[in-house]
Amino acid sequence: MKFDDVMQMVGNTPHVLVRSPEAEPANIYVKLEGYNPTGSIKDRACLYMIRGKIKEGTLQRGMTLLDASSGNMACSIAFFGKLLGYSTLVVANSKLTADKRKFIEYYGAELQVIGDFTIDGNRYCQERVQREEPGRFCFLDQLHNWANPQAHYETTGPEILTDSPDVAMVVGSLGSGGAMAGTARFLKEKRPATKVVAVQSASGTKLPGTGSFDDGDYITPFIQQSMDNHLFDHIIKISEPDAVRRTIQLKEQGIFCGLQTGGVLHAALTAIEQFSVKGDVVILSGDTGWKNMDRLLCL
Ligand SMILES: Cc1ncc(COP(=O)(O)O)c(C=O)c1O
Repeated sequence: MKFDDVMQMVGNTPHVLVRSPEAEPANIYVKLEGYNPTGSIKDRACLYMIRGKIKEGTLQRGMTLLDASSGNMACSIAFFGKLLGYSTLVVANSKLTADKRKFIEYYGAELQVIGDFTIDGNRYCQERVQREEPGRFCFLDQLHNWANPQAHYETTGPEILTDSPDVAMVVGSLGSGGAMAGTARFLKEKRPATKVVAVQSASGTKLPGTGSFDDGDYITPFIQQSMDNHLFDHIIKISEPDAVRRTIQLKEQGIFCGLQTGGVLHAALTAIEQFSVKGDVVILSGDTGWKNMDRLLCL
């Protein structure tokens, strides 16, 4: 495989079979988004949002990229900002892992940590944009930017159908909701028989990339629209002990990923049993273990 630049390496992530007798007669394939350049699914939406802003003329030379994130989008912005020659200010929250913080520093982004939810940082970004002189910041606003779900409508969804043309069910977590909203819209258009399961955190559970909407995480317009249009067949809430147990199960098979993936695997197994699912099930693993070592070492 040959590429002219690193941006061409976003997407086309591998799917690998998870050995799990509990899943039979379904086969669970994990789509390893950790194989993106910064090790997470957020590279897809980040590139789409930056390209969208360039295209509409709202991102110009000398401007600073700005957004709020639980950590992975912040890494993507720091990375692609550096590659494309923009300075970056990212606003993370208490879900930020030490490894992501180091990555953001290594890529030279300015970092602020505010609150417990991405929406806290998003509000701070909105205030900053108003306070500073016009044209200083380009606010990507992943929670409201429709280029975010569009990235997944155009890439993640098609990749799943290419690798599993008869996919019975797709399972992934809701952070901003971009990944599942875009993927679900694509699948419901092209293969309506595919069931879509959206995963969230149970109250009191703090997992990166898996919103806890009962505790105050923000329901973005993409999540709301997907629910209004019945694109999610089921919504499953997961707890931290289940996410931990499944992350260890994946680790033992050489599938090295963050706790979000363990949570999604648990939700997939729950749905397979509850709804008697057969055939290929694809689960979205949001990031690599390397970005979560401080949490993984405590398991
Ligand atoms: C590890 C991980 N998985 C999944 C997601 C969910 O992605 P989205 O924001 O598109 O819902 C995120 C988002 O932060 C994430 O960090």
